[in-house]
Amino acid sequence: MKKTKIKNISVIGLGKLGAPMVAAFASRGFQVIGLDQKSVPVQKLQNGIAPVLETDLQKFIRANRKRISATEDYTKAILNSEITFVIVPTPSEIRGGFSTKYIKAAAQRIGEALRKKTAFHVVSLTSTVLPGSTENDLIPVLEKHSGKKCGRDFGVTYNPEFIALGSVIKNLLHPDFTLIGESDKKTGDILESFYDDLYEHTTPIKRMSIVNAEIAKIALNTYVTTKISYANMLAELCEKIPGANVDTVTDAIGTDTRIGRRCLKGAMGYAGPCFPRDNRAFSYAARKFGTRLLLAEATDTINKKQVKRITTLIERHLEKNGRVGILGLAYKPDTNVVDESQGVAIASLLSRRRVPVTVYDPLAMDNARRVLGNKVNYATSVRQCIAASNLVVITTPWEEFRKLSPALFKQGGRKRVLIDCWKILNKNSFKTASQYIALGVFREGRTP
Ligand SMILES: NC(=O)c1ccc[n+]([C@@H]2O[C@H](COP(=O)([O-])OP(=O)(O)OC[C@H]3O[C@@H](n4cnc5c(N)ncnc54)[C@H](O)[C@@H]3O)[C@@H](O)[C@H]2O)c1
Repeated sequence: MKKTKIKNISVIGLGKLGAPMVAAFASRGFQVIGLDQKSVPVQKLQNGIAPVLETDLQKFIRANRKRISATEDYTKAILNSEITFVIVPTPSEIRGGFSTKYIKAAAQRIGEALRKKTAFHVVSLTSTVLPGSTENDLIPVLEKHSGKKCGRDFGVTYNPEFIALGSVIKNLLHPDFTLIGESDKKTGDILESFYDDLYEHTTPIKRMSIVNAEIAKIALNTYVTTKISYANMLAELCEKIPGANVDTVTDAIGTDTRIGRRCLKGAMGYAGPCFPRDNRAFSYAARKFGTRLLLAEATDTINKKQVKRITTLIERHLEKNGRVGILGLAYKPDTNVVDESQGVAIASLLSRRRVPVTVYDPLAMDNARRVLGNKVNYATSVRQCIAASNLVVITTPWEEFRKLSPALFKQGGRKRVLIDCWKILNKNSFKTASQYIALGVFREGRTP
């Protein structure tokens, strides 16, 4: 591989992934220019303020301010960088695919700027796309508006990140591997050189054609969702077999290295801005190419069933005219994002069935309010949420909820039902203070 020393990077799109990319790259010594079509994130970054809420983002921006700048000017960003990462939204379409309209809009502006540049430039697409999109929707627009040829005057890679919100910076700097789909060898070499300098530790870099990288990205996410739904399928089975406990089963099978323990917990379904839609889009893409992904379809069906399954469990244990407390609205801990959150979906379904619901989340109250409106009550603390409820469900495994005291469930001298979806509490400590119910465990007294 021919090593190239990269010094200057530009990042187009300063959202949940783009802004942390700016900070992570700057922390490793690169000069980084962030660009967004909206002036608010640009101004924030320019003033050293994190444009989005993400763990350590503010700290990283503050510590690396001298290497970070922001602009709305594409020419400035392209002429002053060697690699441009494009990380704009690819919203889901009604039929299940991803729209590339923001990618095309960004590509036009990048192309126009490239026209003014003589040096070779790499455009690296990070947004999640379906197989074929980089070659059909990005490269032709870049060529048209730059008047240049991909592979000769500039290069393109499809280079997605595998991050989880709440740990984006850590995941960016310490990934399990890096995926590079390249238009040509020279471009792949440039990107590999960049990553060699970015990572402190040796990290496997998988280089391939663009289309294989597009398939690999979405296949990986879909495989993870399959594992999650598999564990949830086992949880439902274990609830019906006397003596069964899903955690015991997954702990055993997860020890087999062919399976592995991660993402194998019978609990809530998967949610967030990526997993559900990536899974559905992969099935959609397969149908377009004339085949079906039956596993991905089943995974999605199992996931959607989770909300109804847990709601039914709640209703079965709720006393007449009882009130439900939902602890957890963010789709996972350490984020305020509520996209496809199952806690929010359960609150919504219960309120539609006229069950009074009180909700609480350490970070996601404002975002949940935008979805749930006045259908539910909003508590200002865990204590208040529990006090207002006869039955409490823990839907997000926040650290704060792991430290709950059993006494909270006996407030006002009445014992409450506690459904611990993630099994984060010690059953033995809670069983005298509450009627403790764990998902995936056969409950005594229940008819199989
Ligand atoms: N958020 C995640 O967890 C995650 C993980 C992996 C992949 N992705 C993918 O990354 C992409 C971006 O996701 P996100 O969550 O960061 O989105 P986001 O909505 O948080 O941010 C996108 C940003 O791009 C800006 N933008 C839109 N069009 C633009 C244009 N033409 N020029 C400049 N800026 C423009 C928007 O103003 C916004 O600030 C999506 O394809 C998503 O699927 C996201």
